Amino acid sequence: MFYLWTRSQVPVKEPTRISKIDNLIIFLICTLISIISSYKLLLISPLNISNIFTWILTFTESLICSGILILVSKKENPTISSRQIILLMTFLLAVQASKLSLASTISPLSMIIPPALIISQGMGSITALAWVSIASLSWSDSLVAIDNNLFFIVLVCATIVSLLGGRIRSRAQLLQLSIFIPIGSFLSQWILVSKDKISLIDKQEFVFSIGGVFSDSLLLAIVMLFTILFIPIFESIFGLLTKARLLELADKEKPLIRRLSLEAPGTFEHTLLICGLAEEATRMIGGDIDLIKTGALYHDVGKLHAPNWFIENQDGSKNPHDEIDNPIRSAEVLQAHVDEGLKYAQKNRLPKPIADFIPEHQGTLKMGYFFHKAKEKNIKIKENDFRYNGPVPQSKETAILMLADGCEAALRAMNINASDKEALETISKIIYSRQQDGQLIDSNLSKGEIFLIKRAFLNVWKRIRHRRIQYPSSNNNTFS
Ligand SMILES: [Fe+2]
Ligand SMILES: [Fe+2]
Repeated sequence: MFYLWTRSQVPVKEPTRISKIDNLIIFLICTLISIISSYKLLLISPLNISNIFTWILTFTESLICSGILILVSKKENPTISSRQIILLMTFLLAVQASKLSLASTISPLSMIIPPALIISQGMGSITALAWVSIASLSWSDSLVAIDNNLFFIVLVCATIVSLLGGRIRSRAQLLQLSIFIPIGSFLSQWILVSKDKISLIDKQEFVFSIGGVFSDSLLLAIVMLFTILFIPIFESIFGLLTKARLLELADKEKPLIRRLSLEAPGTFEHTLLICGLAEEATRMIGGDIDLIKTGALYHDVGKLHAPNWFIENQDGSKNPHDEIDNPIRSAEVLQAHVDEGLKYAQKNRLPKPIADFIPEHQGTLKMGYFFHKAKEKNIKIKENDFRYNGPVPQSKETAILMLADGCEAALRAMNINASDKEALETISKIIYSRQQDGQLIDSNLSKGEIFLIKRAFLNVWKRIRHRRIQYPSSNNNTFS
């Protein structure tokens, strides 16, 4: 049973390594959070053993909570960078500090909800929910006492923001959220919080109470609007990749993509076809569709450095590889489409998860054609000289792109009358060769997911075939 259980599990992905200095900074922030959350317990006089014991408990509790938050964020985003963890913990530190200094003037809504929005957008809903729970934890901790109903409203609003924030795909939806959440919080505060305090006889008290709730909600709306304004800055400083940013990058009017369509039209067509294959496969396995669509669009931008060296752009003209007749030099040009692609990515400030598609879609694949050509010429070579530098795909999405890249040309070249069985055989053969070559070893793809990817590619092939079958022409057809 244990053997079957182990076999059924997807290998756990290696998390990103964090440098010693970053680890130290994160530990210092966590310690500071624990000190801020607990130091007031030491100021009680006279100080006795039970106070000290309570302080040790509170300090340890805060430290453990910070550790749990880091673990949750790493579990949700195995490739989370140290900068992003520092941002996460700094938000927690800022909330704990504001509880001390601003709790009497600022509503907890404005302290908890805006950071939850940024975290859910850039690091995911689960991390945001964990952050909200830990940031709200010490409210009841006698340092600052808040109304139970208000605490409930904060938790509900922050949970809604965390859950929706991870799914929101445009800045317009973000704006809607920043209007509806304050309205919702105003109405619920009015009903739940003010109701207890309002004396219907005293009109002045009524107006004052409603005014307080209104100003709290207005402040929340203003802080949320400012947060939305600052999200692009957080994206570039901390490398956060929000859905809105992904969709902006996927715009085909972006200068780099526009250049690809003009200077390397063949590569652009290949890219669009791959987007279709990869999107369908990612949908089948429940991966990140927006990420793969954008990653696929940029995977071959490096070919812009020498478009006519790639067969899809040659358009019947002379092949420069034949002219130089030097397999080693040809292999260097092929590797250059990865290296130059990474340079384009850096120049255009593409986020790391998108830039990762550039080297990982080629992995350490062998440039078979030029390897055999070199062998024929009896040139002394090592097989590794004819392999891409890698790394092999590190995520399911980059692995799907590699498989789509491999299958695209074969599917395009297939006979229009080929059966589904033949198409599936071709797809399976290509995927099997990648597996045997060890290209999918770090990708976390399970056998079941690979099966689904094959079916998805087959579905796209069926669509392509359907498009290529011409409608019968008729001279009498005056209706269409
Ligand atoms: Fe490529
Ligand atoms: Fe490609």
